[in-house]
Amino acid sequence: MHDADFHRWMTWAEIALAAITFVVLLVVKAPYGRHVRRGWGPEIPSRLGWVLMEFPAVAVFLWFYAQGDYRWDLVPLALVSLWQVHYVHRTFIYPFRLRIKGKTMPVLIAALAIFFNVLNAYVNATWLSHFAAYDVSWLWDPRFILGVTVFATGFWINFSSDRILINLRKPGETGYKIPKGGLFRVVSCPNYLGEIIEWTGFAIATWSLPGLAFALYTAANVGPRALANHRWYRETFDDYPAERKALIPFVV
Ligand SMILES: NC(=O)c1ccc[n+]([C@@H]2O[C@H](COP(=O)([O-])OP(=O)(O)OC[C@H]3O[C@@H](n4cnc5c(N)ncnc54)[C@H](OP(=O)(O)O)[C@@H]3O)[C@@H](O)[C@H]2O)c1
Repeated sequence: MHDADFHRWMTWAEIALAAITFVVLLVVKAPYGRHVRRGWGPEIPSRLGWVLMEFPAVAVFLWFYAQGDYRWDLVPLALVSLWQVHYVHRTFIYPFRLRIKGKTMPVLIAALAIFFNVLNAYVNATWLSHFAAYDVSWLWDPRFILGVTVFATGFWINFSSDRILINLRKPGETGYKIPKGGLFRVVSCPNYLGEIIEWTGFAIATWSLPGLAFALYTAANVGPRALANHRWYRETFDDYPAERKALIPFVV
């Protein structure tokens, strides 16, 4: 299972999946959240869906990681910490902060996300503890320092933007409003921008193909979603700020 060739194939499979995901999502809006619609099969409560979807990114990741010879080395431990800070929050805290009482998502969406999170956990965890062999001096390499800084910046943008969105609703409310403040002044989806910056930082800090594969997949997944959300905002609210872009300030 931890054969280097197999691992390389799986990493390239993730990159291929990113390309396919990008093209498909430009045409089909993933049916969850504001774009949820009937006809995608059985549904589960959205909060449960979030926990189930993201759980493999915590648990499957740790399971693969724990089998590697480098599991107690400082650099892999530092990189795993970044990963787990994000995913422990995403799995066990974020879903319970959402104001989505009574909302559902298709089982299919959760199943596809679980499939991807298992693949991504295998590719990245196995890289860190089986194949990478970072020397401890990597901790003061400019790529590591830059990557961690970019990751932390992305995490903050993602976290604070999600917090603005969550606070738009009073407890019990489920409708949509125009978000204001923070990076919403310039883009419709700063939470997605933060997510892309985060995993770009992880890719730089690991300086690895697995890290790059995940950064590409993230951009391929949330990029088209940002375009769709932006269109939706403009169609839904007559007074939507005209100068606001979708994802990249002043550009797209
Ligand atoms: N790494 C990846 O590939 C990846 C993929 C997908 C998502 N994510 C991350 O997961 C998080 C959630 O993603 P998402 O697609 O669910 O984000 P989202 O559509 O922006 O929604 C986030 C939350 O805020 C609510 N919300 C959004 N816009 C609102 C508005 N205008 N008024 C009131 N409430 C609003 C949503 O409610 P509703 O659910 O009712 O719409 C949801 O509870 C983000 O941080 C994203 O970056 C990562």
